[in-house]
Amino acid sequence: MPTSVDVFEKARGHDRAVQLQAAREAGVLPYFRLLESPAAPVVEMEGASRIMLGSNNYLGLTGDPRVIAGAREALERYGTGLTGSRLLNGTTALHLELEQELAEWFGTEAAIVYTTGHQANLGCLGTLLGPGDTVVVDSGDHASIIDGCVLSRAKLRPFRHNRIDKLERMLERAAQDGGGVLVVVDGIFSMEGDVAPLPQIAELCGRYGARLMVDEAHACGVLGARGAGASELLGVEDRVDLRMATFSKSLASCGGVIAGPADVVEYLRIASRPFLFTASGVPAAVGAALAAVRICRSAEGPELFARVLDNARYLNRGLRDLGFRVVEETPLPGGGSITTPIVPITVGDDWRAVVLWRALYDAGVYTNVAIHPAVPPSGALLRTSVMATHDHAVLDRALTAFGRVKREFEAEHGPLPGPA
Ligand SMILES: Cc1ncc(COP(=O)(O)O)c(C=O)c1O
Repeated sequence: MPTSVDVFEKARGHDRAVQLQAAREAGVLPYFRLLESPAAPVVEMEGASRIMLGSNNYLGLTGDPRVIAGAREALERYGTGLTGSRLLNGTTALHLELEQELAEWFGTEAAIVYTTGHQANLGCLGTLLGPGDTVVVDSGDHASIIDGCVLSRAKLRPFRHNRIDKLERMLERAAQDGGGVLVVVDGIFSMEGDVAPLPQIAELCGRYGARLMVDEAHACGVLGARGAGASELLGVEDRVDLRMATFSKSLASCGGVIAGPADVVEYLRIASRPFLFTASGVPAAVGAALAAVRICRSAEGPELFARVLDNARYLNRGLRDLGFRVVEETPLPGGGSITTPIVPITVGDDWRAVVLWRALYDAGVYTNVAIHPAVPPSGALLRTSVMATHDHAVLDRALTAFGRVKREFEAEHGPLPGPA
């Protein structure tokens, strides 16, 4: 007898359909807007010039002539695509040089390059963990971490974002589960913009015999004197077992990496399905990432890291002075504090967030909107982010627009959350 259930039904009747349609009709849909120029500090979008405060191009390297030359040389030498897996016909000298360069940068024995960062998390977690193991994750961890954990069928034990007491409770429980235990956290959290308390996390992992993996997607090329990420900044590189990073942010390209002990990396090379059963990254992407890593590792790297962090602090303080609720600066163990390039503004209600987004868009400022389920219910935010190539004059123009839009928005829709 044929089934009466159509698997396509969920594409028609899902909860989001009504909300999306309403947003489209009201002209406030913040997604899939058309970019018509390179990802620079000021971009062309849908026929107008807009200040880009929604890009992960933290060092501004997507337009750097050396990175473009790296991509072009790779394209001319190897063509547009490799049409095969790394295992078979998809490994070039560029992939190997990039792996070597990344391992040196992170100070690990080895590194393995995947076609995307999402696949790196899927490939690492889905292979190293199995049904008998337990994986402990921060509730703010990126979706690709959660996807990798689900793929592995390990027991998933989430703890409340950045709450060390909750992590310890999960580690106590995990110790009773009977398998291996891995803790996975983001170095910089992609929506919250705060930094994981890695010294305390590493200490707990040591105490409970758990391995520790840090996703440095937003932190590599930004934090630490070498730009090697949150693990470097917080002085715990020797206590972090695995580092993950993507090329789709500071490294101005597309791809991902897992860096760690040589035996683990070699195991991933032969057992990791998202590595084995997908085409290798296109030569231009690998060439661009290699050039970007070399810039980060050159004398120019620290200047770029300092510039993006200075811009982050400038925007964070400017928005706070205007009365917005923005992420708190993260205190550093040795004194001082750090603001990451991700500066989220808390709005709360989903609909108010998209209305505010539209007003800013019309005022010439592009931001990203995160609504549930990307953030907890009633936790909608505008996620702003800066690049090393923004200058204070451009950020001042954006802040002027924020100030005007806030006044007009509040006059019509009531107050926005103020500084915490
Ligand atoms: C924390 C984090 N991890 C992993 C990824 C996945 O990286 P990619 O975009 O290279 O697939 C992202 C990207 O959005 C991210 O923010």
